[in-house]
Amino acid sequence: MSKILEISDLKALAKRRVPKMFFDYADSGAWTEGTYRANEEDFRKVKLRQRVLVDMTNRSLESTMIGQKVSMPVALSPTGLTGMQHADGEMLAAKAAEEFGVPFTLSTMSICSIEDVASATSKPFWFQLYVMRDREFVKNLIDRAKAAKCSALVLTLDLQILGQRHKDLRNGLSAPPKFTPKHIWQMATRPLWCMQMLQTKRRSFRQHRRPRQERLRSLLALVVDRRTVRPAALLGKCRGDQEDVGRTADPEGHSRRRGRQDGGAHRADAIIVSNHGGRQLDGAPSSISMLPKIVDAVGHQIEVHVDGGIRSGQDVLKAVALGAQGTYIGRPFLYGLGAGGKAGVTTALDIIRKELDITMALCGKRDIHDINRDVIAE
Ligand SMILES: Cc1cc2nc3c(=O)[nH]c(=O)nc-3n(C[C@H](O)[C@H](O)[C@H](O)COP(=O)(O)O)c2cc1C
Repeated sequence: MSKILEISDLKALAKRRVPKMFFDYADSGAWTEGTYRANEEDFRKVKLRQRVLVDMTNRSLESTMIGQKVSMPVALSPTGLTGMQHADGEMLAAKAAEEFGVPFTLSTMSICSIEDVASATSKPFWFQLYVMRDREFVKNLIDRAKAAKCSALVLTLDLQILGQRHKDLRNGLSAPPKFTPKHIWQMATRPLWCMQMLQTKRRSFRQHRRPRQERLRSLLALVVDRRTVRPAALLGKCRGDQEDVGRTADPEGHSRRRGRQDGGAHRADAIIVSNHGGRQLDGAPSSISMLPKIVDAVGHQIEVHVDGGIRSGQDVLKAVALGAQGTYIGRPFLYGLGAGGKAGVTTALDIIRKELDITMALCGKRDIHDINRDVIAE
């Protein structure tokens, strides 16, 4: 991987190594993919101010996300079917993140189970939950996440119904995957991927040990039930307009203002400004364009994090400058995983760390905590 210099190099390599329907699954957005593209493009519109004649020695990227120490403010997003980008994908990515000192978030829709990931790691990871109507199932997932010592629960709130992704429909990708001759051909043209897949037993949703049809269907018919949930740390992941943010940052106050007495509401420790990587509501604004408004509205009450479109350390710096305490990468780590397994995820993180470090220095700052809107060129 010596010629790998930026995240797009990992993407090109992953495209050559991962069967088409799974590569497309990662590289897809809803409908026209307008929001997916805007997430990346709007980062390019944010310009940075270079500073000269300042001391650049002894730089530090260390920070915290929800009070947990991180080597840089970048976590791995929860992504479904990660074990299809590479055999044992969730376990490898979690291990790479742990060694790097950044959080890994396991998706509800993972191939490797909570217990599989716990067996591959020695430090707590985060667990993402879609809250489903089947309360017993949700409670069981939360109990298993607690038993595995997960240190945060990321509650994804924007998948009440599944967004339509044309690439997945054209490829005939279903959940759980059912393979047709076309899929088998796509896999056969990726022999290394096949060999690695044949060596693992983790090839279907292991989160759901006895996957009853109605249970898998209920994954796509979700309702939020706040009363079931009270983990060590709670992060609400949603699009982030005023209403959503009000409910997440101050649910009791929000209920009072709306004249409701529903009690039992729990405030999240952080909100992740997210549009699900442009995979849900096509036409929604990009995450980075929403970030400053959300920070201004609730940044004094709650940590604000952001994901969507981050492809470089410059993007991370821009998000931090606009008020994000933490950022997340989805596709960049998936491309790394598809390109080279655990080493590929480490490469993705390394690329972002180097870019972040150099960008911070050129902006005249030595500590990530000193990054603020001053580094943005108006
Ligand atoms: C292939 C893929 C699968 C995803 N699956 C989930 C999921 O299971 N749960 C979830 O909360 N978000 C999921 N997301 C959204 C990510 O958590 C995150 O919001 C998004 O990937 C960030 O954008 P980026 O990919 O541009 O970095 C998924 C994203 C991708 C690309």
